[in-house]
Amino acid sequence: MAAEARVVLLGPPGAGKGTQAKLLEEKFSACQISTGDILRKAVAERTPLGREASEYINRGALVPDGVIVNLVAERLKEKDCEKGFILDGFPRTIPQATSLNAILNQRGIRLSAVLSVRVPHNVIIERLAGRRTCRNCGALSHVVFTPPKKEGVCDRCGGALYQRDDDREETIANRLKVYEDQTAPLVDYYRGQGLLREIDGVGDVDEIRARIIQALGV
Ligand code: AP5
Ligand code: MG
Repeated sequence: MAAEARVVLLGPPGAGKGTQAKLLEEKFSACQISTGDILRKAVAERTPLGREASEYINRGALVPDGVIVNLVAERLKEKDCEKGFILDGFPRTIPQATSLNAILNQRGIRLSAVLSVRVPHNVIIERLAGRRTCRNCGALSHVVFTPPKKEGVCDRCGGALYQRDDDREETIANRLKVYEDQTAPLVDYYRGQGLLREIDGVGDVDEIRARIIQALGV
């Protein structure tokens, strides 16, 4: 792979996209673009985007493609994305993927790889049930697998940890269904473009990181 990483992380809720994206961001000096994080921040700040998005997020449904594509197109123009990007949670539909291709074509660049992280249903449920996110820096932890040194407090910055609203049981079920119906078709789409690398997402965080680095050939 070229030194510049332009990577998509594809996978169901709880697959570990956010966890691995943060590690890859550091390794490649690329920017992490998590559409979920951007939307949650907008919701917390009650911006117009946040007000529009919250209803979809709370149901576990996808925010309309046009809104998301504009948001990513703008974010990709920022300086920290000049040396590459790790897309976490985008694209999630075929129209989002074709729009991404158009944005990159305009700039004369293409994706380096699309990583499809595969995790079985029972592991997803365990991971989402115990996930905690830092309200301040967004760092991810898990009450069982990667517990913070002090309960409820982020190891990295000391911020407060919280549980995401969309990690309720009924919303998780809908997010999984939405993934199968609308996002899983991207696996074949990117396989057809020769970009797909399949990653076994079961194991500890470091093992999966090593598999990803190997799959990227760096
Ligand atoms: P988003 O925030 O993208 O959520 P998601 O895809 O459902 O994925 P998650 O963030 O839940 O899981 P993850 O794969 O990042 O796992 P994590 O690393 O946290 O989207 C939320 C909502 O926003 C959507 O439902 C939609 O409404 C909207 N949205 C976002 N993008 C959109 C788009 N493109 N189009 C339209 N709508 C959009 O890991 C989970 C837990 O497991 C953590 O606790 C972590 O510490 C732990 N963990 C991770 N790896 C391991 C491991 N190897 N071993 C043990 N524990 C682990
Ligand atoms: Mg995430």
